[in-house]
Amino acid sequence: MIQPAVELDGIWKRFPGVIANAGANLTVRPGTVHAVLGENGAGKTTLMNCLAGVYLPDEGQVRIDGVAQRFSSPADALAAGIGMVHQEFRLVPTFTVAENIVLGHAPRILDMAATEAEVANLAERFGFDVEPDRPVWQLSMGERQRVEILKALWRDAKVLVLDEPTAVLTPQEAVELGEVLRRTVAEGRSVIFISHKLDEVVSFCDEATVLRGGKTVASSISVADANASSLAELMVGEASIEPVSVSVSMPGDPALVVKNLSVLDSRGLPAVQDVTFSVRSGEIVGIAGVAGNGQRSLTDAIAGLQPVKSGTIEVMQADVTQASPQRRFRAGLAYIPEDRVGVGLAPKLPATENAMMREYRSLRRGPLLSWTRARDLCDRIINDFEVKIGRRDAPLAGLSGGNLQRLLLGRELSSAPDVVVASQPTRGLDVSGVRAIQRLLVQQRDEGTAVLVVSEDLDELLALADRILVMVEGRVVGAFDARATSRVEIGEAMMGATA
Ligand SMILES: Nc1ncnc2c1ncn2[C@@H]1O[C@H](COP(=O)(O)OP(=O)(O)O)[C@@H](O)[C@H]1O
Ligand SMILES: [Mg+2]
Repeated sequence: MIQPAVELDGIWKRFPGVIANAGANLTVRPGTVHAVLGENGAGKTTLMNCLAGVYLPDEGQVRIDGVAQRFSSPADALAAGIGMVHQEFRLVPTFTVAENIVLGHAPRILDMAATEAEVANLAERFGFDVEPDRPVWQLSMGERQRVEILKALWRDAKVLVLDEPTAVLTPQEAVELGEVLRRTVAEGRSVIFISHKLDEVVSFCDEATVLRGGKTVASSISVADANASSLAELMVGEASIEPVSVSVSMPGDPALVVKNLSVLDSRGLPAVQDVTFSVRSGEIVGIAGVAGNGQRSLTDAIAGLQPVKSGTIEVMQADVTQASPQRRFRAGLAYIPEDRVGVGLAPKLPATENAMMREYRSLRRGPLLSWTRARDLCDRIINDFEVKIGRRDAPLAGLSGGNLQRLLLGRELSSAPDVVVASQPTRGLDVSGVRAIQRLLVQQRDEGTAVLVVSEDLDELLALADRILVMVEGRVVGAFDARATSRVEIGEAMMGATA
């Protein structure tokens, strides 16, 4: 039998109050793309950090090509051939591609022209499209990712670890990345590909290891013998969960109307540019786009959390362009922000206080707040939205993402809003949490609410939405009937091709 390129054996890693890895195992054969799958919080990133020298495991062994190793820094791991591309890139924006690639790994005196030529050669060998003399700040997220990968290959990494690399890519860029990875392993290297997107795993990985709750629940299963639903079952540990079924909608009148909206970001640069659209009662409109194309400023501006530069926002025929968030709420708008904790919920406060934040005016009796009614409201939300919570008077910190999101949705939806704006409503939730939240949004729509959903998950939008708008660089560049379009068509629009 061939020696595995990587063996992680019984890895334990504890953080204060959390066991991130509880005896996890992973074996990667040379020349393969190996998927590490698991829901959020399963311990994938921690396990890879133990391999890449970021953490020293509390217990367990790391073996590279059969040799036991104890890495005390990422440099140690790199010297043994392990190169990791983290979720947050670590590039210097003002440096060129070539400078970033050789940074920290170049002779004292550097011939920049020769280095650029070498970088171009390396890029060509792996089928990357990069310009070595471009400064990194000019590059898209997909291009920056290629620079990170080249940086690891420049250091001759034998094992390339990519932590959720496709999260920042368009569907087409993800396909290209798959091709690059196939080429990388064709030379005998290995790739560890972390993901929770099952279709990608099925399309370009050879084997998969599944983590759940810090433990390995399936090792090196052959992807050829698996499919997306068998992998999903392993990830969540329950029989496959039915996707939400969405019937055809019967939309009514426009409930949310956005006209010629422009918004500046915190640096005063245009974030949303001249955007016009409306969402009708009983309709779900999805906003698709690669992260960072103005989606967040758009929803924050609709919710009144970011000032509008020009244009108007109407909720149920009332102009709320300059209104406070509280007044927009009374006009019928509910907002599920991207940041559940912080913007949406206050983690240090108990569930009761969090539940009544929106309704506190109606809970008052004269000058006093009715705690009985506040607790009733909280109990109703916990019950109706199936929030699994220990005590409603204990701080929220410690609740899982799925339960926080149920509480937040419960609070926002219990006021029977006319318009719901939900930003990345299922991000980071496990499969059952995702389904529950999606079902709630569809139910809102069926009850006649206008729903705007921003999501980076195109499959989610294709499943839920009636119409899909695509945002690129702050503009809406395309509008599609969700039932008559395809991933490819929307993906092309996301890349900036005009629809
Ligand atoms: N530096 C840290 N300090 C404390 N807890 C952490 C740290 N890193 C990860 N965790 C916790 O460990 C668990 C596993 O996290 P992680 O490895 O990031 O999972 P995944 O990458 O699969 O989403 C989570 O509960 C997370 O909150
Ligand atoms: Mg992670």
